[in-house]
Amino acid sequence: MSLRDRLQKGISEGMLCVAMSIGLRTGLLKVLLEHHESISLEQLAEEAGCKPRYVEEWLGVMTSSGVVEIEPTSQTYSLKPDYRREIGDDPYKNSYVVFSAFFQLAVGASALVQDAFKQHGPLGTSYSDYPEFSDLMDLLRATTCTEESIRKMVDTAPGLRVKLESGVQVCELGAGKGHQSMLMAKMYPKSTFLVTDISEEAVHKGQKIAEKQKLTNTKWKVLDASDVPRSMDDKFEVIFLLDSLHDIPQASQSLRCCKNALVKDGHLVIMDPDMESGHSRNSGTYSTLIYGFSMLHCLPVSLGVPGSQGLGAAWGKDKMKLFCTEAGLRVILCKSTGDGYVMLVCSK
Ligand SMILES: C[S@@+](CC[C@H](N)C(=O)[O-])C[C@H]1O[C@@H](n2cnc3c(N)ncnc32)[C@H](O)[C@@H]1O
Repeated sequence: MSLRDRLQKGISEGMLCVAMSIGLRTGLLKVLLEHHESISLEQLAEEAGCKPRYVEEWLGVMTSSGVVEIEPTSQTYSLKPDYRREIGDDPYKNSYVVFSAFFQLAVGASALVQDAFKQHGPLGTSYSDYPEFSDLMDLLRATTCTEESIRKMVDTAPGLRVKLESGVQVCELGAGKGHQSMLMAKMYPKSTFLVTDISEEAVHKGQKIAEKQKLTNTKWKVLDASDVPRSMDDKFEVIFLLDSLHDIPQASQSLRCCKNALVKDGHLVIMDPDMESGHSRNSGTYSTLIYGFSMLHCLPVSLGVPGSQGLGAAWGKDKMKLFCTEAGLRVILCKSTGDGYVMLVCSK
């Protein structure tokens, strides 16, 4: 396919992604899902609380791309049955619909990122340039992270399940709103989970959810993962860094902190995108997606902090292993999970 054709196809599909995200965030998708019969533009706009003229253009994207069908005589609209089935009852529960919202968020900051590319431009971006980042991240986790996926992760790390079931001190660094820690807190009630992130907003929102769910075995703390106090030395049997290490500007320092905070033979479990280290060893759709999100979000938020190591989401497993070893950790396991992540288990 020529570059022209690829770009035309890409721009068209990109427009669909943004339209999906707008449909998710405005409630248009929800209204379409609620109506099994086709509905008029006016009804759709009214029920979603939107202006009809905008909805008309949105439907243009959705019908021309074949996601929404139009009944030609009545000029009414419905989701294509295959897609309706695929999305399910709630569009917020479909990972790729939520991912479209991430796409919109990342692309929305692209002009700022572009400025940061330039020699005399800013260092990078900040999380505030991506409004609602932690909420979207949490929604995405809710679509992919289940008791089954946690069990799979825990069972992959030798000896981890026995520890968590017996009741140990656990810490998650860079946890966002802590979806995964909260799930583990429910599954392993004898263990206590200290859930931390550098974002005050994410930690406070997560804590409120945990309080509502009466998760008394979670504790919450705003914490820079590369500035863990020495009072936490030898405190934790298990530390998790789930999809966060590449975002931490001082990742090496953070790994040294993990080593200090772990008890002897404790587990450090790291999950990061399943990439190889080096351009020549990555190709295809998934790699482009990870490099793209990294270019527009992960790398610039990291580089925005002076002195950052700027790893980016695509730094790859060889570099991950090297960084862990250099921090004085023993790498026990490095395994692809089969769903886009690589899991590294280290001990001290
Ligand atoms: C990609 S998100 C992952 C969040 C969560 N672990 C998950 O998987 O849903 C990366 C997280 O790292 C956090 N983060 C970035 N730099 C950090 C630092 N220095 N210390 C602690 N957390 C940090 C961000 O606030 C963000 O919540």
